[in-house]
Amino acid sequence: MSARGRFITVEGIEGVGKSTNIGFIADRLRQAGLEVVTTREPGGTPTAERIRGILKEHGEEPLPETAELLLMFAARAINVSHTIRPALASGAWVVADRFTDATRAYQGGGRGIPRRRIDEIAGLVHGDVNPDVTILLDAPVATGMQRAGSRGAPDRIEVEQTGFFERVRNTYLELAAADPRRFVLIDASRDLAAVQADIGDAIGALLDSEVH
Ligand code: TMP
Repeated sequence: MSARGRFITVEGIEGVGKSTNIGFIADRLRQAGLEVVTTREPGGTPTAERIRGILKEHGEEPLPETAELLLMFAARAINVSHTIRPALASGAWVVADRFTDATRAYQGGGRGIPRRRIDEIAGLVHGDVNPDVTILLDAPVATGMQRAGSRGAPDRIEVEQTGFFERVRNTYLELAAADPRRFVLIDASRDLAAVQADIGDAIGALLDSEVH
């Protein structure tokens, strides 16, 4: 095994099963004898979780798009510094529920912030820490919304219209098409067993590539 751990991110619109499948991925890696750290964004440390609260709550004043972008990256700067970078350096594998592809999809595709600005800030925040593999769980917006809707009251981002989530989903699909070496695209509209069979194959291939 390599000295530095691998960095796996899981992405997709709301309701595609990220949390469940992160548990599944972490279990698979642990069964292979690896040390695994799971995290989520925005969040992952006490301070970054407070920023998450600001991003998700229906506050008394609207959050400008630029503030939303910078808060996402502020939370990420803290999580990279306190969780992700030290874990990778210690040889642990990191599995993250969302990372900068979410910013490209939501703030870029959804809100319309130019990609080059996002990538510029990403370079500043985590130029040296980027995912080795990104599992994109893809499902039609209506399917995701239906599943997410059963979880309770929608947060500040979940109240967006269908068109917003269509742009988010399309941006994710464009990112995957542009970087097929890093992305594993999984049809998450199927039942969990089928989804996890595909995820298991992808993780198996990744583990094989590590030992050979
Ligand atoms: P979740 O953990 O339920 O997916 O909530 C995180 C929300 O924040 C979700 O609506 C996606 C959004 N988000 C962004 O808009 N940009 C980002 O960079 C990240 C990490 C999340």
